[in-house]
Amino acid sequence: MSLTMLAPAKINLTLSVGDRRADGYHELRSVMMAVDLCDRLTLRPRDAKGITLRCDDPSLPSGPENLVWRAVEAIAGAAGCGPNVEIELTKRIPAGAGLGGGSSDAAATLRGLNELGGLGLGTDELTPLAAGLGSDVPFFLHAPVARITGRGEHVEPLDWRFDGAVALWTPAIHVSTAAVYARHRPTDRPLARNESWLTGPRLDARTLSERLYNDLEPAAIAVDGRLGELRGRLAEIAGRPIRLSGSGSAMFGLFDTPAEVECVLTEASGRLGLPGRCVRIGPSPDGATGHVAQG
Ligand code: C5P
Repeated sequence: MSLTMLAPAKINLTLSVGDRRADGYHELRSVMMAVDLCDRLTLRPRDAKGITLRCDDPSLPSGPENLVWRAVEAIAGAAGCGPNVEIELTKRIPAGAGLGGGSSDAAATLRGLNELGGLGLGTDELTPLAAGLGSDVPFFLHAPVARITGRGEHVEPLDWRFDGAVALWTPAIHVSTAAVYARHRPTDRPLARNESWLTGPRLDARTLSERLYNDLEPAAIAVDGRLGELRGRLAEIAGRPIRLSGSGSAMFGLFDTPAEVECVLTEASGRLGLPGRCVRIGPSPDGATGHVAQG
């Protein structure tokens, strides 16, 4: 028996960053949305004790430094059983891009092992395990759209849905999340800002784009100036604001239709030599939408 899980990437539609807390983390408030660019994990129980992790991207660790491995240990510890599992990880989400790939893989591992082992843990029990693995992990237990607060451990699922299309670029620039947070300078803007677009009448994608913000952008651009340059050129081509996701380097723009996204992608690829992709809102993690396949 095996279980195959899709682990979607996320983008931060809004990201407010508050003060640095005593534990070194920053207070956050962010509306996050999963998109349908997904890693795939296949989980199989093993007869022998221990964890085997195979990943098709040789640049990623396949031992305890991988968040998937730590997720297995965390849930095995909580359930009081041995971590006897074989995992095959197929990566599609670029690492170090602010798209939460490793975090999503970890959340999919928690959900998958919970199901495969018949552990019966609820989201309330999985959330602290997820939070212990990383700030972005709890969100992926609730995607596709949720508001996160605290350092990311409080997740409030939202009914809001984006039915347009997203242009997503992942420049080959790696920025360290820790380095970006270290460059972040506090502002006097409140954490909670105008989120009326979540509840008001549906906005067209260009107007919605003007409501989005990311407090980490100045720090990310201070870490690598090419991000500012690219964001500016893409915004010119797209005719609307382009936002970084999390600490970057991924950037995105919102459009009403996939055809508009394709035009902008072609233009950006021709003028800047930067390929991108068209993505839509991602799968829900509850398995009910057919994104969990059992074999
Ligand atoms: O939790 P995660 O491992 O994703 O965080 C990576 C780094 O980002 C942390 O070590 C910390 O420097 C920074 N961070 C932060 N405040 C947060 C989330 C992350 O300062 N709320």
